[in-house]
Amino acid sequence: MTIQHPNFGEIADDRIIIFDTTLRDGEQSPGFSMNLEEKLRMAEALAELGVDVIEAGFPIASPGDYESVESIARLIRGPVIAGLARSAPADILRAADAVRGAARSRIHTFISTSPLHMKYKLRMEPEAVLQAVTDSVTLARHHTDDVEWSAEDGSRSDSDFLCRCVEAAIRAGATTVNVPDTVGYALPEDMTRIFTMLRERVPGADRVILSTHNHNDLGLAVANTLAAVAAGARQIECTINGIGERAGNAALEEVAMAIRTRPDAVPGRVGIVTERILMTSKLLSTITGFDVQPNKAIVGRNAFAHEAGIHQDGMLKNAATYEIMTPESVGWAKTSLVMGKHSGRAAFRDKLKTLGYGELGDNALNDAFRRFKDLADRKKTVYDEDITALVDDEVVRGKDRIRFVALDVRAGSRGPAHAELELEIDGVAHAASATGDGPVDATFNAIHAIFPHQAKLTLFSIGAVTEGTDAQARTTVRLEEAGKMVDGQGADTDTIVAATRAYLHALNKLLVKRERTEPQALSA
Ligand code: KIV
Ligand code: ZN
Repeated sequence: MTIQHPNFGEIADDRIIIFDTTLRDGEQSPGFSMNLEEKLRMAEALAELGVDVIEAGFPIASPGDYESVESIARLIRGPVIAGLARSAPADILRAADAVRGAARSRIHTFISTSPLHMKYKLRMEPEAVLQAVTDSVTLARHHTDDVEWSAEDGSRSDSDFLCRCVEAAIRAGATTVNVPDTVGYALPEDMTRIFTMLRERVPGADRVILSTHNHNDLGLAVANTLAAVAAGARQIECTINGIGERAGNAALEEVAMAIRTRPDAVPGRVGIVTERILMTSKLLSTITGFDVQPNKAIVGRNAFAHEAGIHQDGMLKNAATYEIMTPESVGWAKTSLVMGKHSGRAAFRDKLKTLGYGELGDNALNDAFRRFKDLADRKKTVYDEDITALVDDEVVRGKDRIRFVALDVRAGSRGPAHAELELEIDGVAHAASATGDGPVDATFNAIHAIFPHQAKLTLFSIGAVTEGTDAQARTTVRLEEAGKMVDGQGADTDTIVAATRAYLHALNKLLVKRERTEPQALSA
């Protein structure tokens, strides 16, 4: 049955709403925090990917969270922009303020409905929770027509009580009702039971969008999501690369491709521009510093690689023998040779467009072009992946206060390594030299000499952007200071320069964090 929705108008029977929570549930998990610029870049990419709703954050959690939701609401056009709120009036008012500038806004309010959460977390009687459902949705509806209500720990809630809460939310004006599997406990048959029950028992359930939100603690988030859709859920909550609390959320790329590949089993269609999936996944990896594992479905390096001879033989005869979707349909293209050192700025800008970057600002374009020329001088072949790594590196660097200028390193087996480093801090040039146990240690000591700080290095990893000995290195550095954790990334053909860029990126993020107040606990 078609549904009338304040933000989407008439929603066709088979249309499935993709609600992306990369910037809220995803960003909430340790190591995945992003700064404002990174969130805006990600929100832009999500809009281009065609998601229907972006959950931009939890405005009451911290001034930084408020600022990013407010900015995304003001600047990103296309998707509905949602802000999360617990049931307390202060939460709802803060979320309402943050999303006010959006062309289409949503307040997403939630409260726990399971016996365990009500007794130990909320310390509330069920009847008080029921009243809070009505009050919170009513208040949210005073501020926007599009209100989503979620039953936290819904999958472990008593069926009768869950039905009463959902009914109360609908009566109070919720336009979407979400039943999360908050702790990743459910099996697909639980989803079938819950969504069938809601549609059969709750008056008005056919007038709202039923939504599913699944965590991956048992590795079942995507399976549970598809089961919920088959049982009548019309909105899917998911994240890029499946990031999120603990084991993460259902991965957007997996649910979107499952729906597209198996229309016989999962009814419905999504509005995702699937060809943009890979670049969105890579952008998130670049921003957060976490690559997906090689065998990750859809976006892993090996997702379309055929190693076994028998598979390769079949592929050559007919790709459909071993391929259920084409690599191109999710954005994988054959690694292609791009321009060389004689290519001009216009060709470079054109290349960026074909790689899916919108118009870069003049500064970012100039910096990226200068680095491209430099790379083309040093590297025999420059691939699309090289350009992507380099531009992403420029984009995430944004308004860094501490900038890399130059580095000379002496390393080898004959004595301590030595590094001479030049940096720019707030536009002022600084230089230092230092020794260390290896070139990375010497360089990081030089950074300390120029910019003394207490942060501890807790992770350092190196990967290659492409193949071959002249490939760019992509490095990740994690720093921790006073309970705050940040990740930085860097890419360069010189591994030590890449490491330096990653360290500086992390340090810059730490400076931004220092200016922010601590977020409040993110629980209802
Ligand atoms: O997992 C969960 O229950 C949530 C809610 C806040 C929707 O993330
Ligand atoms: Zn969640």
